[in-house]
Amino acid sequence: MAALTPVLLFLLFLSANSDESSNLDSSCFSAIPISNSVAALYVFGDSTVDAGNNNFMNNAVRVNFLPYGIDFSNTPTGRFTNGKTVADFIAILYNLSLPPPYLSLTEAQRKTVRDGINYASAGCGIFPNTKPPGLDCWSLQTQIEVFNRTVQEDLPCMIEDPQELAEYLANSIFYISMGTNDYTLNFNNHHDPEYFANSLLIQFRWCLQTLYNIGARNLVVNNIGPLGCLPSMINKTRNGQCDEQMNQNIMSYNSQLPQILKNIEDEYPNATLTLANSYDFLQDILADTEKYGFTDVKDPCCGDYFQGELACIPDYSTPCDNRCHSLFFDASHTSEFANCMFVRDMLIIKD
Ligand SMILES: *[C@@H]1O[C@H](CO)[C@@H](O)[C@H](O)[C@H]1NC(C)=O
Ligand SMILES: *[C@@H]1O[C@H](CO)[C@@H](O)[C@H](O)[C@H]1NC(C)=O
Ligand SMILES: *[C@@H]1O[C@H](CO)[C@@H](O)[C@H](O)[C@H]1NC(C)=O
Ligand SMILES: *[C@@H]1O[C@H](CO)[C@@H](O)[C@H](O)[C@H]1NC(C)=O
Repeated sequence: MAALTPVLLFLLFLSANSDESSNLDSSCFSAIPISNSVAALYVFGDSTVDAGNNNFMNNAVRVNFLPYGIDFSNTPTGRFTNGKTVADFIAILYNLSLPPPYLSLTEAQRKTVRDGINYASAGCGIFPNTKPPGLDCWSLQTQIEVFNRTVQEDLPCMIEDPQELAEYLANSIFYISMGTNDYTLNFNNHHDPEYFANSLLIQFRWCLQTLYNIGARNLVVNNIGPLGCLPSMINKTRNGQCDEQMNQNIMSYNSQLPQILKNIEDEYPNATLTLANSYDFLQDILADTEKYGFTDVKDPCCGDYFQGELACIPDYSTPCDNRCHSLFFDASHTSEFANCMFVRDMLIIKD
């Protein structure tokens, strides 16, 4: 399932960028080969990769305020971190422009974007009914329907030949980072974790097959991180420890996911499904905080206690100075530096 290996065979070494202070990604990606072999990056998911779609919805979870974006040229774009997301770093790795949020594009612009588009929407999940109460967002199914529109109506304006369009899609990466909200918003203690995971994976498998049927071949899929160890969750346990029940609840999903990806690979010609192992990445850091030089893996870099929740509050919260040394930027989202490390160590398969 080493989808990202072949594209790195033809290397061009990116010379180390010297301006380290203003260029966080160079400090993580220096000496990493970048490649031109991927046609485009299409992104699906939740707040881990939303690049601003929710800013264009009437009533949605959004972070269009500083200090979000403080390391994104000091611009709050709607990304739930201080700088770039994992999806952005994948784009950088393949020398593609950062995929713009679909809703930020005019109808005319949509017919000119060749490097890929981001459909992710904070708050939603794999189950169509996973949503924060009373708020809007796009479920994975909706995101895929919108992507279908891109393939049917927009891409043919640039790539007229259907055969060429199929090759373009086959040479693109589809990154899907979703599932966390299904557990935080849709799971409750009356659910049997095994039954919940099975139903969620049936829905997820259907979504991945639908993407394949639209033309996707190279899919990179996140599992669910150790949710109980998010600062927001630790704060709720009241004893400073991870919420182990929460970590247990997601286990069945994570343990079955690799086999599901393998089954799809076996069943669908030319499909490559790669696991992006968020769970192991975070567990490794929590077990060995020194590994990446983090000095704080527990406290969010931006967080104040507000109405019983740890939150990064507009016009109030001041983020920590040393943002390369914090694992979490806010109480539920990793910092830019952690995002860069994730792509470097979990998605680039070195052999
Ligand atoms: C990245 O792509 C641009 C064109 O968009 C090209 O000019 C540049 O040489 C590429 N960089 C590398 C390192 O291949
Ligand atoms: C994609 O669009 C085509 C044409 O409108 C339609 O026939 C097909 O059912 C759509 N597929 C999905 C998965 O939405
Ligand atoms: C939750 O966060 C607040 C604000 O940082 C802090 O005062 C409180 O001690 C935290 N509670 C726990 C159990 O970590
Ligand atoms: C699989 O890849 C080969 C070689 O690129 C291509 O000819 C064939 O049409 C592809 N089949 C499917 C189902 O994608």
